[in-house]
Amino acid sequence: MRLALLVLVLLCATGCPSEPPPPRPSPRPTPSAAAPATPVGSERGRALFQGTCAVCHGPKGLGLPGLGKDVTTSELVRKSSDDELVAFLVRGRAADHPDNSTGVPMPPRGGNASLSDDDLREIVAHLRWFSR
Ligand code: HEC
Repeated sequence: MRLALLVLVLLCATGCPSEPPPPRPSPRPTPSAAAPATPVGSERGRALFQGTCAVCHGPKGLGLPGLGKDVTTSELVRKSSDDELVAFLVRGRAADHPDNSTGVPMPPRGGNASLSDDDLREIVAHLRWFSR
């Protein structure tokens, strides 16, 4: 009997299943790993958005009451191609347009006629970053 115990102890000294390791803290997420190459989609687009669109859509694109909608969760932005979004920005959306949901007009080119189609394309790249 004693011998059996001794054998067991000896065996355990080498081969007993060890205690499970203490749970390790989960690795901290590294935000930089997921960040896109261009941090804001387009730096020029960001500047143009801040200069023209942010007046109504807010600096973070979240919208301002009575002025502009949230463009970060917009179905339109999510579902449209870049070309379609540029075309939308060129047209805007009148208050009486059937798709208008706020009764407030979105002015063509955000009311800034000096924005070229190319500028709008850069802004779209920034919109994609907002709604990523
Ligand atoms: C004078 C205020 C104003 C400015 C400036 C403006 N917008 Fe808007 N925008 C609006 C309003 C109001 C709507 C919502 C219209 C509606 O109710 O359908 C809108 C809608 C949009 C939408 C569609 C959202 C959706 O889901 O229907 C996008 C995208 C958008 N704007 C982008 C822009 C961009 C980009 C600029 C800058 C070039 C800009 N807007 C400038 C007022 C503005």
